[in-house]
Amino acid sequence: MSSLSRIYFDHAATSWPKSDAVLDAMIDFSKRCGVAAGRGGYQAAVEADQVVTRVRKKIATLIDAQSASCISFHANGTAALNVAIYGMLSADDHVVVSAAEHNSVLRPLHDLERRGVIRLTVVPVCSDGSVDANVFINAVKDDTRLAVLTHASNVTGAIQPVSTVGAAIRATSTYMLCDAAQTFGAVPVSVDALNVDLLAAPGHKSSGGPLGTAFLYVSPKLHHEFRPLMFGGTGSQSESLEMPREMPSKLEPGNLNVPALAGWEIALNELVDLEIREKQHREISQRLIQGLRAISGLTVHASDGPLPIASATLRGLSPSDFAAILDAEFGVEVRAGLHCAAFIHQYLGTQREGTVRFSGSASTTECELQAVLDAVSQIVQEISDS
Ligand SMILES: Cc1ncc(COP(=O)(O)O)c(C=O)c1O
Repeated sequence: MSSLSRIYFDHAATSWPKSDAVLDAMIDFSKRCGVAAGRGGYQAAVEADQVVTRVRKKIATLIDAQSASCISFHANGTAALNVAIYGMLSADDHVVVSAAEHNSVLRPLHDLERRGVIRLTVVPVCSDGSVDANVFINAVKDDTRLAVLTHASNVTGAIQPVSTVGAAIRATSTYMLCDAAQTFGAVPVSVDALNVDLLAAPGHKSSGGPLGTAFLYVSPKLHHEFRPLMFGGTGSQSESLEMPREMPSKLEPGNLNVPALAGWEIALNELVDLEIREKQHREISQRLIQGLRAISGLTVHASDGPLPIASATLRGLSPSDFAAILDAEFGVEVRAGLHCAAFIHQYLGTQREGTVRFSGSASTTECELQAVLDAVSQIVQEISDS
């Protein structure tokens, strides 16, 4: 790494730095207790179990879940989404999905479509990456089993009309899955308000938890029919070769990452009121997007919402070179390319090389923001002079 001080602007990938208290909790748990949860009856095992139970309850409360049993833990957002998709879909199902989705949704759906298991309808997005609720709702048919809509685009930050779509299909036989990867911990996320049956989110982004954390919410009405994706030991009913029928055990084979959950618990406790956090994010978002739009020659792909996520492109400089210069000459760390979102770039006109994505957080300072904008201005100026 260079001697330049780092300006981390890739919070949409994972938040950094994690707070000292989060890191301390992980080390403390590992050193002092460090055992598996749900496997033993000795005191340390009970303590590990209690960590898992507390985080489960905390998340259930945060998202207005009916009970803690609706929450299962997974290694990352991708794993949680795969569990949701494969757990729900069977032969001949129809699925509606938006073009703004991340590949953690699109690739499992593509796998099922390619093997002839499901039929897939992809709903287009507008030029800022947002979905028109009516277009999405009209794509849902009588035989649609699952509608999948991300809560926010990881490329433009556009908040999607999940609640409107969810309300419109509530009375039908279609279930709704929401990917809240970019919003959980950044703005209030309520399964009730969003009208969704399934919701997945990693813990390592805006909620400030460590890598290796994620949850899936499954509505009680699906607990019975929901199928496990992975099979193995759960520490219960070991005489049976069937997975337990109970949630969340049936979705959690193998040992959980308890040190990471111990860190995530502290991060969740540190989250200030989410309405206040949304306000903080919105202020940084406005500054970032207005600042980028003010740089003449730069094309900004963003939506004026509460998330400090914006993409940009510059004629004459590829996104990967743009990001490399930001890093090497200014210490600004951003991501370049397609951002694991296969379809959205067709609608942004950026399908060839993608974009440079700037993503801040509630902890982004005015000084950092200005340094990013100054660095971008200088690069744009140099390119236009050359
Ligand atoms: C919108 C969206 N969904 C899903 C994911 C996958 O999350 P994870 O990286 O934890 O697997 C990401 C990660 O960037 C994302 O931005």
